[in-house]
Amino acid sequence: MIWDTHAHLDDPAYTEDFEEVIAHMKSAGISRVTNVGCDLASSERSTQLAKDYDFIYAAIGIHPHSAEKVTDETWPKLLLMAKEPKVLAWGEIGLDYYHDFSPRPVQKEVFIQQINLANQVGLPIVIHNRDAHQDVLEIVKAYPPKYGGVFHCYSGSWEMAKILLNLGFYLSFAGPVTFKNARHTVEVAIKAPMDRILVETDSPYLTPEPRRGKRNEPTYVREIVQKLADIRNLPFKDVARQTMCNAETIFKLR
Ligand code: NI
Repeated sequence: MIWDTHAHLDDPAYTEDFEEVIAHMKSAGISRVTNVGCDLASSERSTQLAKDYDFIYAAIGIHPHSAEKVTDETWPKLLLMAKEPKVLAWGEIGLDYYHDFSPRPVQKEVFIQQINLANQVGLPIVIHNRDAHQDVLEIVKAYPPKYGGVFHCYSGSWEMAKILLNLGFYLSFAGPVTFKNARHTVEVAIKAPMDRILVETDSPYLTPEPRRGKRNEPTYVREIVQKLADIRNLPFKDVARQTMCNAETIFKLR
């Protein structure tokens, strides 16, 4: 029983074989998936998938890439979706200074607005942070998410991880923890408290070893669990059980 807490199954990468990907995942013991929105359309698709499949849950939000596309219609529509019972989180939101697809001041404003909205509707947040550590940290300190949050695909240092853990955040590990050059991420994955870590694939991206470079799918979250088990010297099933339990806690699902 494993929960892939971050995937994008509505991506066109699955148009051809969506049902096969789902069947594959179920037979591999992946019992839950959270489908994460990046803009209005993918948030709508996420809530629809959560209605259509009992094992799919949804997160809704505007990714920093799309921050500039926010209009007057965006927030009322997301607030409506947030009322759906299987919408468990507001995300993915944050800052991306690697791609800079939206101007940085707009990214910051849209990030802050969405923390406030998540607080208003009682949802935890899912944070995307790429090359923006300092600004993300300043924002979550100034505008703390009342219902907690997850740093998705955590890739920062142990120094930053300690600060985030002290602020109550969860750290989620994806494919990069299996990569050969992942020294810093592995360090964090060893040192982080067992009750504050999650696993995810970020499918169709970030495929873990040994399939790095190919299309990702929720089944391969097993590689993340296996890597954590190896580096922490724990049985696979203990990591699976604990990360499932952690996800149930932060996403308030029992
Ligand atoms: Ni993602």
